Parts: sequence; structure tokens; C-alpha cells
Amino acid sequence: MTRLSLRRTRLNRHIRELTRETHIQPQQLIQPLFVVDGIDEREPVPGIDTLYRDTPESLLQQIEADRATGINKFLLFGVPAEKRTAQFDVSFTMTQIEAIKQRFGDDIWLAVDVCLCSHTSHGHCGVLNTAGDYVVNDATIEELANAAGQYAQAGADCVAPSDMMDGRVAAIRAALDQLDCAQTTIMSYAAKFHSHFYGPFRLAADSAPAEQNLLQDRASYQIDPARPQDALASSRRDAEEGADILMVKPGLPYLDVLASLSGQIPLPWAVYQTSGEQAAIDLLAHHDLLRRDAAQRETWLAFKRAGASMIISYAARRATGNLCDP
Ligand code: PBG
Ligand code: ZN
Repeated sequence: MTRLSLRRTRLNRHIRELTRETHIQPQQLIQPLFVVDGIDEREPVPGIDTLYRDTPESLLQQIEADRATGINKFLLFGVPAEKRTAQFDVSFTMTQIEAIKQRFGDDIWLAVDVCLCSHTSHGHCGVLNTAGDYVVNDATIEELANAAGQYAQAGADCVAPSDMMDGRVAAIRAALDQLDCAQTTIMSYAAKFHSHFYGPFRLAADSAPAEQNLLQDRASYQIDPARPQDALASSRRDAEEGADILMVKPGLPYLDVLASLSGQIPLPWAVYQTSGEQAAIDLLAHHDLLRRDAAQRETWLAFKRAGASMIISYAARRATGNLCDP
């Protein structure tokens, strides 16, 4: 009689490698980038190691450095100096896309976030009504489709709407097709929750809703964390409207949603490990309460198990050695 032993396949490094079902590869990591208009020198983002608000010049150097570590996929956030309430000018971001593509061409894959919160004086993700208590849907998606079209024409490989308005994927797809940008991919923030794990990002992107607003938060357009059904409806809708890639955001608090949606909707799934999630890991590491890289890898494995193919992570650029398959 042999005694059942699950420990035989845990015994050494070789057998552990042979039996692994989930892998982290740098090819499936996407590094976010922030490029900020009107700053003289790049600035660190509070709470997150190895993350910066870059100048147009330092941005190109950063991408060069990332390429040297094996990261060649990026999600760009452009932060203009001038804030408005309508008729947004996206030329700053466009210029950065052109410069990146001119320097790196198809050696890199460049996704560009499409939203208005870095452009608005009030910090909301769209155009407000005159009362100032509601984000007007159709005026907003018109601005978003215009921005996405310009990013695609500037050379973005992918546009990623993060605003959570109704009908924005269809509007963006129509604009892209009309501009002869049929090959440009749409990665939709389809299951984007109204989360409290976006803190450092809002500092980096200068996009926090202003204190004096009547509309205090994004609860009237982002998904309620208590409503997974809304995430399913939103993802189905975006798939029907022509999204190529769907996303769940944040990551760790929504693994159940990722596992369930990726099992139901046969499109590639991305997960966004948000700034608050990253800051939590980095803070624990700074207090010597965990090993930063090992803990990071553990979170990435969770995303893979739950069905993500690609991971958007601020720590992508740290993904050398043990952070991927050791
Ligand atoms: C804004 C946007 C947010 C993030 C990406 N795009 C935050 C928000 O909704 O305020 C979150 C990223 C992060 O926290 O890492 N449209
Ligand atoms: Zn936004």
C-alpha cells in the first residue's frame, strides 16, 4: 500500500517547475507611463517605487531603460497643463505618441488611455451639465471618440477608454474605422469599479475630483463594488460594441469578477493592478513586512489563475529574474 503523498511533487525545484500550471512572462506585462506637460524635471509618484511623472524627454529615456529589462508594452497617460470643461485639446498627448513611435516604431506596443479626467478643471471623466451634478453622456463620448481618433492617427497601437460612459466603445470604433484606423485595437476598461485603490494614480495624473465640486466622486459612472452583475452587463455590452480586449480593474479585490467574466466572455482579458494596490505592496516592503518581489509575483500568479492573459502593473519594469518564472 502506497501512502498518498502530495509532497512528492513539491519536493525540489525541478519537480516544482515541471508541475507548474501558471506562468508569468514579461511578454504579457504592460507598464503604465505618465507624461506631464509643464514640468522641468521628472517627479516620483508618491507611494510607488520606480514610478515617475515623466517629462517628454525623460519619458523616452525611461522607455529605453524598460526595453533593456525586457518590457516592450506600455499604457500611456498624457497629462496636459491646461485644464478645460469642454472642447479638450489632446495635442500634448498626441505629440508624445508621435515621438515614441518615431523613436521605437514597432519595437514597442503602445496603448493610450482615453479619458478626460486629466483634462478637466473639475477632475471628472467627462463633460458636466450646467448644474454641475452629472456627467453628460453623449457630449462626453463625442470628446472621447475625437481623442481616440487622434491618438490612433498619431500611431497608438491600442486605445483604452477608462471613462465608463455608455456607448463609448461603439463611438470610438466608428471614429477609428472612419479615419482608416481599422487596425487600432480597443482595450476597454469594461469592469472598472468605483474603488478606493486609485489614490496615487490621481496624484500622478492630476485627475482627482476637485474638493469644491457638487459631484464629489465617480459613483455615478463607475461600477458599484457590490454589483458584479453590472460588471457582467458592462463587459457584454463592450464586447458587442467592438472591444477587442476587456479589462477588470482593480485586480486583487476583484479576482472573483475576473475569474467569472473571463470564463463567460471569450475575449482576451486584461487586469489592472492599480496604484493603491501597488502602494500597499511597496509600503509593506518598506517596513520589512514582506519580500517585495516575491509578493508581487504571488499577486501576478493570482491574476493568471483567475484568467487574465495580460497584466497592467506599475511593477512591470521590475520584472526581471525571480519576478517571472524563476
Ligand atoms: C481615470 C483612470 C483611473 C485609473 C486609470 N484611469 C482612476 C480613476 O478612475 O480615478 C486608475 C489607475 C490606478 O489607480 O492605478 N479614468
Ligand atoms: Zn477618467
